[in-house]
Amino acid sequence: MKKKNHVLVTGGAGYIGSHTVVELLNAGYEVTAIDTLERSEIAIIEGVKSITGKAFNFQKADCLDLAAMQKIFSDNQFDAVIHFAAYKSVNESVERPLLYYKNNVGSLMVLLEVMKQFQVHDLIFSSSCTVYGQPDQIPVDESAPFKKAESPYGASKQICERILEDAATEGIRTVSLRYFNPIGAHPSAQIGELPIGVPNNLVPYVTQTAAGIRSQLTVFGNDYTTPDGSCLRDFIHVCDVASAHVNAIKFLQDQKSEKIFEAFNLGTGVGVSVLELVKMFIQVTGVNLNYKIGPRRPGDVEKVYADPKRVMEGLKWKAKYDLGQSLLHAWEWEKKIRGLS
Ligand code: UD1
Repeated sequence: MKKKNHVLVTGGAGYIGSHTVVELLNAGYEVTAIDTLERSEIAIIEGVKSITGKAFNFQKADCLDLAAMQKIFSDNQFDAVIHFAAYKSVNESVERPLLYYKNNVGSLMVLLEVMKQFQVHDLIFSSSCTVYGQPDQIPVDESAPFKKAESPYGASKQICERILEDAATEGIRTVSLRYFNPIGAHPSAQIGELPIGVPNNLVPYVTQTAAGIRSQLTVFGNDYTTPDGSCLRDFIHVCDVASAHVNAIKFLQDQKSEKIFEAFNLGTGVGVSVLELVKMFIQVTGVNLNYKIGPRRPGDVEKVYADPKRVMEGLKWKAKYDLGQSLLHAWEWEKKIRGLS
C-alpha cells in the first residue's frame, strides 16, 4: 500500500494554517503541524482534531530555530511543506520593520536550508495580494508588476517571492498563493480567527462590534472613486483559501520539472465594498451594527480584486462560499468564543 503523503504545515495553529490542516486531513494526508503559539492558541489544534476526528502530530517550534527544524525534518519524511508561519499586521510592520524582515524572511531562509538538506522539494508559500500595491488594472492578474510595497509586511512578501523564484534553480519547487482578503470561519464554529487585541482587519472588527466588545465600527473613508465611495476588496472564505492548498500540492506533484515557481491569485474575482459588506452582515445575521464613516486609513489601497482565471484553470479550484455565508460563519465563531447564543 502506498504510504500517505506527509505534509509539514508551519504556522499550523494560525487562522489559515488551521483551516488548511482540516482540509489536508479530510483529503487523507498525514500532517505534522508546527507553531510557536506566540500568536495563536493550542485550543485551535484541539478544534481541528474535533472537526476531523483525526489525530495528527503537533509540535511547538519556531521556524527561525535551525536546530529545531533539522530535528523535525530528521524525525519525519516530508513530501511537501506549506509555509504559513509569518507575522501579518501591516501597522505593526510599519512600527517594527526589522521584526518583520527577521521573522518573515528569516524563517523562509531557515526552511529552505533545511528543505535542501533533507531533499524536500515541494513548497506552498503564503503570499498576499499586497505584493501588487495599487495595481494599474483591476481585476488584477498574476502578470501585473509589483509596485513599491506600502508596508514592510508587503515588502517581506515581495522579497520572499523573489527568493523563491531564485530558489527554483536549486531544486525548490514553489507554488505561491497570493491571498486576497480571507474571512469567515469553519462552518462548525470550532476554529476561526483569534485576533490579538484590537483587530486591524475589517471582519473581526465587525463581529466584535456586533458582539458588543467594540462600541462602533469606523468605515475608513467614503470618498474613494468607487461606486459607494468606500474601498473595494475581494473577500474570500477561509475554507476556500484552505482547500486551494490541497490542490496546490497535487499540482506540484503532477509537474515533471525540477524547476518551478508558479504564483496564483487566490480570490473570488468579485469586488465588494466595505459598506456593502457591512450591509450584508446586517442582512444575514439580523444583528444591528453601529458604524460611522471616518477618515481614510493611511496606506489603504483604494480597490483591488482578483482575476482568478489562472488559479481556476491551473489548480482546478473555485470558491464555494459566497459573502453572506462567509459573514455568517464569522459571526457564528464570534458568538462561540464569546459564549453568546
Ligand atoms: C491588507 C492587505 C492584505 C494583508 C492584510 C493583513 C491589501 C490590499 N491587503 O488587507 O494583503 O494580508 O492587510 O492584515 O493591502 N476597514 C474599515 N474599518 C476597519 C477595518 C478595515 O473600514 O475597522 C476597511 C479598510 O480600510 C479596507 C478594508 O476594510 O478598505 C479591508 O481592510 P483589512 O481587513 O484591514 O484588510 P486589507 O487592508 O485589505
